[in-house]
Amino acid sequence: MSFLSSTLDRVKPSPTIAVTTRAQELVALGRDVIGLGAGEPDFDTPENIKEAAIRAIRAGKTKYTAVDGIPELKRAICQKFDRENGLAYQPAQVSVGTGGKQVLYNALMATLNPGDEVVIPAPYWVSYPDMVLLAGGQPVFVAAGPEAGFKITPEQLEQAITPRTKWLIFNSPSNPTGAGYTAAEIKGLAEVLMRHPHVWVLSDDMYEHLVFDDFEFATPAQVEPGLYERTLTVNGVSKAYAMTGWRIGYAAGPVPLIRAMGKIQSQSTSNPCSVSQWAAVEALTGPQDFLAPNRALFQRRRDLVVGMLNEAEGVHCPKPEGAFYVYPDISGCIGKVSKGGARIETDEDFATALLDETGVAVVFGAAFGLSPAFRVSYATSETQLSEACARIQDFCAGLR
Ligand SMILES: Cc1ncc(COP(=O)(O)O)c(C=O)c1O
Repeated sequence: MSFLSSTLDRVKPSPTIAVTTRAQELVALGRDVIGLGAGEPDFDTPENIKEAAIRAIRAGKTKYTAVDGIPELKRAICQKFDRENGLAYQPAQVSVGTGGKQVLYNALMATLNPGDEVVIPAPYWVSYPDMVLLAGGQPVFVAAGPEAGFKITPEQLEQAITPRTKWLIFNSPSNPTGAGYTAAEIKGLAEVLMRHPHVWVLSDDMYEHLVFDDFEFATPAQVEPGLYERTLTVNGVSKAYAMTGWRIGYAAGPVPLIRAMGKIQSQSTSNPCSVSQWAAVEALTGPQDFLAPNRALFQRRRDLVVGMLNEAEGVHCPKPEGAFYVYPDISGCIGKVSKGGARIETDEDFATALLDETGVAVVFGAAFGLSPAFRVSYATSETQLSEACARIQDFCAGLR
């Protein structure tokens, strides 16, 4: 009998973290590596937020807090939903956790029974399927490739729903593709959901503030008020406010679900870091003026990367609406051999050979459930991005 739980057989470690670790190992060996794997902004948390945290420490806000968040932060979150999404929530409808990741995990743990199905559009954020499996549920994938703008259609959603479906996980703009659904597209999916009242919506809005050109962010509970009573709207401060290390995420939804999530959290981690909660209050209620220049910066980087990758042989890179990722298709590279002699049969072969031969670290598409492709995180300087894309062009030109 194994000492370790059989639950572990159902899940795999995060492949994005594995790529970052491998790239760090190469750096430690003295190799010139450009990491395009990590999903976090490359700039520092704004000063006003850091100062709020320092004030909180000095004021002794260093003790346990209410399990799912201090009242001040819950109020700030309600104001945020009202101000930015036109959604009315009361503090009792809000749960704060150690990152959006914990909030999503709590929601799935609090709701899934063995055999319950969760519809997940692919490509997907790597953690969704494994969290569903850990909670005893069954992921049901719906594929949407580059030809569909990486967005599922109402017909596909209709076909995926069964009497066992508990959730649709909806993520726009998306990690890993950057694809964003317009309000009209969300409405199309909502019409299907209105015909299936047993299906709930888990909307992961983590990249809300990173949208480009004239794209307007929208979220299901706002687009279809009929879904409000069965939607959990998840968000966090990690990506918008460059606060990945502070670990604050939150969600709003129906009170019984919020209470159930709090119960899970109370028996696992208890409250998220008290100091980080005060920093998040400042993030949500303080000046928001750095969001627009950040958006402009990320848009310039997106344009640079999309332009250069589309010049690489065998690569087709769609231009996404948001987030800080692109997801180029590499069908044209499969079946070839690299300059270094590596056979490229899969996108994992491509990413491994690219890292070994050029020092550019990307995450292979199979990790996100749609191949052959790779994900680039362009949350790094334009100089680094140009150099990395030039190396990718070179690598692709060398494929025979
Ligand atoms: C789509 C998506 N959801 C949720 C998260 C979790 O973010 P955090 O736990 O830092 O709030 C991430 C982070 O990479 C993400 O990409």
